[in-house]
Amino acid sequence: MKKFLTLFAVWVVLFSCAGTDKGGDNGPLVFDELSLDMDKMTSVEKTLVFYDGAVVNYRAYEKIYYVKNVADPAYHYLNMYIPESAYTGNGETSIFLWNTVGGYMASRYQEPTVADVAGRALREGFIVVIPGVRGWNSMVDQAGEPVAVPLGSPAPEGAVYTGRAPAAIVDLKAAVRFLRHNDAVMPGSAERIISDGTSAGGALSALLGASGNNPAYEPYLRALGAAEERDDIFAAICYCPIIDLEHADMAYEWLYRGTNAQARSLQPGETAVSNELAALYPAYLDSLGLRMSDGTAVSSANYMTYLKAFLLNSAQTARNADFDIPGETGVILNKNFQGTPGELVLDIDMDKYLNYVVVRTPLKTPPAFDQFGVLNQGPSAENRLFGGEKGDSANFTTYSAEKSNSSVIDEALQSRVDLMNPMNFIGDGVSRVAKNWYLRHGSVDRDTAFQIPINLYTKLNNFGYDVDFRLTWNRGHQGDYDLDDLFMWIKKIVKAAAETKNL
Ligand code: DHB
Repeated sequence: MKKFLTLFAVWVVLFSCAGTDKGGDNGPLVFDELSLDMDKMTSVEKTLVFYDGAVVNYRAYEKIYYVKNVADPAYHYLNMYIPESAYTGNGETSIFLWNTVGGYMASRYQEPTVADVAGRALREGFIVVIPGVRGWNSMVDQAGEPVAVPLGSPAPEGAVYTGRAPAAIVDLKAAVRFLRHNDAVMPGSAERIISDGTSAGGALSALLGASGNNPAYEPYLRALGAAEERDDIFAAICYCPIIDLEHADMAYEWLYRGTNAQARSLQPGETAVSNELAALYPAYLDSLGLRMSDGTAVSSANYMTYLKAFLLNSAQTARNADFDIPGETGVILNKNFQGTPGELVLDIDMDKYLNYVVVRTPLKTPPAFDQFGVLNQGPSAENRLFGGEKGDSANFTTYSAEKSNSSVIDEALQSRVDLMNPMNFIGDGVSRVAKNWYLRHGSVDRDTAFQIPINLYTKLNNFGYDVDFRLTWNRGHQGDYDLDDLFMWIKKIVKAAAETKNL
């Protein structure tokens, strides 16, 4: 069944995947000789030598187009790295699907290194797949050729933006389908895909994990000529996911409005926006119907206590590891505690804590995300994400659309907004949600409000999915850290799945 095991010995290259460009003036390039079959593709042997002398040999498959109708030749391919150990295994090696998306921009990445999570995954014996992903800034010219324009520079006449929402998640799903299509011929198992991403990439990882096989993406996948396969995954790793974009502005002001006086010097108009947005949040929060692990309803009335519990846990974990916790954090320690190590964390002064967070990194001005046209502000990354293929920007919340006076959220746009929010798919009765989740958000990360990851955790938890979640003490807006902890978790879920299967 696993043809690759034999191929490893011979490595006959039958055909390169470059294909023939039959693109016309409009529409996607058609690589009509493009194959989605991996056993026809070429690879090279490579080696990583780690700082401690450990050597990992692996095979690199690069520039493998994962859709038949390539809409953006600069991004519609994936790179796959297979450690030697996977060829002698049972063909069930897990696949670490790493997206390197940041800022909702297009991304591609080559070559695992000894210093990144991809190198670590190879060292741990996992197959690494890094798909290119379109983003708000990716574009092609009228002939369908990629155009790279420095950030902030105007696009050439007639350029088509290829990566407006929901393109990025469609690409990740297409990559998953490509892996399933090739499941029988590769040493890894497409039933063990573990997705990882940070920030916007963390959001996409969450979306991939939450929306498995949802038919709403089907028209987009069909247009790309994605393999006709399932696209659910085994596990999602999400560092500081920037999700729930259409409610993130209200969540942000609800949490941080109290710090306005100290942390931001707002104009009166901005203060009004901050207050108006904050006032919208309780109704949304209460509408989620979330429950704490003991069954208590999560509400706007008890949310600060709920949030505090995660922070107390984070601080205590840090103290247990002997991290120093300064008084300006608002954390109150029992200095008389006789246990080891460190003191017991008693309480947190939340006002003090939130001020501590925003003194370290200044807050975004309100609205934090959907700012386009509100008080004459320019577009955010998210406004560009929801814009169109001509490079325009769009509002994606009713609040900002009304304030900006220039934008309407029609049905088509609303559907694109819906397709970017993992919260919509958990428990929808249609999507196949990943069983395993690893979710981290830094305790001093103010890129989005703490409620965003906490609500994702809570909703997943309420619907019975396994989530390893914490607010990581003293971490800012970062990902792929504490790799010992991450890979311990990965090995645990892989082992549990293998045992369940063997029952
Ligand atoms: C990212 C950060 C943001 O603050 C944001 O609004 C969107 C994306 C990022 O780092 O990917």
